[in-house]
Amino acid sequence: MFKKAQISAQTHLYRSGEPFKTGAVILDLSKVNFQDSPRIPYFEIETNDKETNLIYKMQEDDVVYGLGETLGALNKRGKIYQFYATDDPLHTPDKKALYGSHPFMILDGEKSFGLFIDYPSEIIFDIGFTHKDYIKITIFSKDLDIYLFECDEKLTIIKEYFALTGKPYIPPKWAFGFQQSRWSYFSEEEVRYVANKYRELDIPLDVIYTDIDYMDGYKVFTINRETFPNYEGMVKDLAQKGIKVIPIIDPGVKIEEGYHVYEEGKMNKYFCVDKNREDFVAAVWPGLTHFPDFLNSDVRKWWGRQYKIFTDMGIKGVWNDMNEPSIFYTPTRVQKLFESLEKAKVEENELGQKLSLIQEAIKNIPNNREDYKSFYHKLDDGTLINHDLVHNLYGLKMTEAASEALKTLLPNERPLLLSRSSYPGLHRMASIWMGDNMSWWEHMLVNIRLLQSLNMMGFFYTGADIGGFGGDASPELVIRWMQLGVFNPFYRNHAALNTRPQEPWQFDEESLNIMRDTVRLRYALLPYTYSEYMNSVKESEPFIKPLSFVFDGKKEKDIEDQFMYGNSLMVAPVHEQNKKGRYVYLPDVKWLNWTATKFEERNMTVYKPGDYYIEAELSQIPLFIKENNLLVLTEPMNYVGEKEITELWIVGLVTSQAVYTYYDDDGLTYNFAKGEFGHLKIEILKESNDFKVQVEKEDPKNMIKVNKIHFEIYDESGNVVKKDMII
Ligand code: NOJ
Repeated sequence: MFKKAQISAQTHLYRSGEPFKTGAVILDLSKVNFQDSPRIPYFEIETNDKETNLIYKMQEDDVVYGLGETLGALNKRGKIYQFYATDDPLHTPDKKALYGSHPFMILDGEKSFGLFIDYPSEIIFDIGFTHKDYIKITIFSKDLDIYLFECDEKLTIIKEYFALTGKPYIPPKWAFGFQQSRWSYFSEEEVRYVANKYRELDIPLDVIYTDIDYMDGYKVFTINRETFPNYEGMVKDLAQKGIKVIPIIDPGVKIEEGYHVYEEGKMNKYFCVDKNREDFVAAVWPGLTHFPDFLNSDVRKWWGRQYKIFTDMGIKGVWNDMNEPSIFYTPTRVQKLFESLEKAKVEENELGQKLSLIQEAIKNIPNNREDYKSFYHKLDDGTLINHDLVHNLYGLKMTEAASEALKTLLPNERPLLLSRSSYPGLHRMASIWMGDNMSWWEHMLVNIRLLQSLNMMGFFYTGADIGGFGGDASPELVIRWMQLGVFNPFYRNHAALNTRPQEPWQFDEESLNIMRDTVRLRYALLPYTYSEYMNSVKESEPFIKPLSFVFDGKKEKDIEDQFMYGNSLMVAPVHEQNKKGRYVYLPDVKWLNWTATKFEERNMTVYKPGDYYIEAELSQIPLFIKENNLLVLTEPMNYVGEKEITELWIVGLVTSQAVYTYYDDDGLTYNFAKGEFGHLKIEILKESNDFKVQVEKEDPKNMIKVNKIHFEIYDESGNVVKKDMII
């Protein structure tokens, strides 16, 4: 029943039936030649009318990576994962699904391969849960595309996946700065206050967000003029201080006569419809709303044009939220609740049973599958398709609307574009954050694991709500999370309504000082972060990698709370309460340990491979620079671009030779793709008690402003030689 087509030397497509064109894949598949294929390598196939099952017998040492935005360990064995995008605000370990659906996995074992299932509705991956030795993948359809990557190397599988689905999104350089958010800053005054406070306290900041309360009655593309009388003035004033304002946008359009987005959508039939062809009604923040039909290209164009109100104000990005789409309730669900209540009332049950009937009925109200099954999209060719069959695409298509529009509204400017829900392909145009976590220590570990698995999916620019979204955060938690956040490319402190404020000054003086040093450290790392990020995209290799992607060995496969940030730096964050240090495993080579507090204090120690307990007081972050690799720092600034980067500090443990390619471009446009970037190739050669340096500059467009380099090069006994060089 499968047809097979060769996509590349190592990738094959197995097609069953007539799959929906999701847009995940960038290749033009209309020209590939299919042959009948009775089987798919590695897998047993079981099918019936409703589903396709793929079954694989694992070996004891097989490790499974990937599966995008799901909870649990980095090695996915021992849990069931569901791909059906959902807005679940309580990320407890039992949860099977989150906002993003990425049915891409890597099996790493004696036989290694990658598998991507391009199917936009429910898929279940049972990875050794029901039976410890078996993977069972259930796709609830017979219309699907399966891509099999037959490569031995994990990194090659990822390269093939990016060749198929596209290279990761590149944000503007300022998006690597620190960002502050809260649901909500309720007025222009409050936003200005927070931004100014950052400047007053000398804590670097690049971005501040306005959450849903800037809108008038939660009507998208409107502004509450009572609380934000001069939103555009605020955007301009803060821009003067180097701070960008990013607004949130939700898909639900409030049903309100006279409201332009509602009127236009209704008139042009741009909303999803129910079975009677009436505009589908569901409640989100504004109350009853309609959902734009993003699967239709006219709707995407119309929606995209709405973002103009922001770009006209000088806004450089958008935060797309609630696009699973989240449903608080529908009139049908509320009706059903009342029926259940009636039933509970009359039923001859004990009080306890009545209560559980009521609780069950209430639990089923938000994000109910029956509601998703009750509305339709009108595709470009006029056919209607039930939403449930394409559910996982809604966030992707909303983001596509924004991304396409911003290409025209902000010509040749890279926007900061975020989405909550995602599907493969979204990583080409935007990124995702990790949604509504809690101020729990356990969620720092979730953050660390997701960083690594989302990078495999192409979301290099990702991160969690620093300090935790729900619940109250202690100063210690916020400090430790801000330290971890230094190594989240998307570095944003965000918290929910009615939670303890968690901006750096909300605690005590000592905590404030630590947080300032921590954020400054992030800015000191900017030349390294940006060079490594751009290089990762170019090489199609995750920017953040698990140790097992870099070092062979059994032990590396078990270590999930240390990771490589770029190619030179291993980060071992402290993520547990009251800990004054942590155990660290140092694989394979020698490492230069920087227990970092601030840019200005760089005391380093050399370690041989092995297991260690590394002390780290509350102000300290355990970092490790890999032998014969280099870290590149600069003096922190208040915001990205405040000053040109004219001086670099190059730090490393060089036992033979180290080469670093420092990269820079304008940080704002796509001109780098036309060759407008520069490189500094820095080579260090170890000599007895000294080292030799060679620097080659390749910079036809004058993108590199560096004129002085400070070298701090260590030998294996921990002796440092410092030299400065004018270039
Ligand atoms: C849900 C988002 O995940 C969260 O970040 C945001 O603050 C709220 N919606 C309110 O807009």
